[in-house]
Amino acid sequence: MKKVIVTDHPLIQHKLTLMRDKNTGSKDFRELLTEITMLMGYEITRNIQLEEVEIETPVTNTKSKIISGKKLGIVPILRAGLGMVDGLLNLVPAAKVGHVGLYRDPETLKPVEYYSKFPQDIEEREMIIVDPMLATGGSAVAAIDVLKQKGAVSIKLVNLVAAPEGIEEVHKYHPDVEIYVAAIDERLNDHGYIVPGLGDAGDRLFGTK
Ligand code: PRP
Ligand code: URA
Repeated sequence: MKKVIVTDHPLIQHKLTLMRDKNTGSKDFRELLTEITMLMGYEITRNIQLEEVEIETPVTNTKSKIISGKKLGIVPILRAGLGMVDGLLNLVPAAKVGHVGLYRDPETLKPVEYYSKFPQDIEEREMIIVDPMLATGGSAVAAIDVLKQKGAVSIKLVNLVAAPEGIEEVHKYHPDVEIYVAAIDERLNDHGYIVPGLGDAGDRLFGTK
């Protein structure tokens, strides 16, 4: 499949520009990330299955559609992925939330797993991994590996900003996983940071460093 969907609605581009600005503080950064995730959610959930039910409006009986089929599971990659959970939960409050803890070793840039906990019925859910940054792709590939080992069969990856290198890496190891991004940037620098990017997403979200 090897599919990348760029959700570049003007509102998303505007808000992302504010997030990239180094003078934007943590409070605004967090709020903007939630808002963008909600806007991306519109595309991410576009193909959700519906079923017809009978209801009674104040005027008449009618048939109308509600969500059916696979339920959603949201999986933030800790820490920065936490900043994208509320945006999706606002849209789909019944979604369950799993967590996978990975940090990138600053020397090797390889992901190190330190935590994971998922809903029990993971194989029956459409799992949506969220993380603002897709850089080398190591963290995303590792998170998808873990989810698949636990039985997930339907997985989407949602990132705010991606480097071409990261997209290629995910496609190489997990061609079945659709990737949703708000922007594809130019490249990685020598420290594995996305250029132009927005810096360290976790530090900017939580005010660390
Ligand atoms: C960041 C980011 C991704 C990862 C991307 O997390 O949130 O998880 O780096 O890089 P990669 O594509 O090269 O793996 P980080 O390791 O800084 O951890 P944090 O969220 O706890 O700050
Ligand atoms: N992780 C981040 O938070 N930012 C980058 O640019 C790359 C990895």
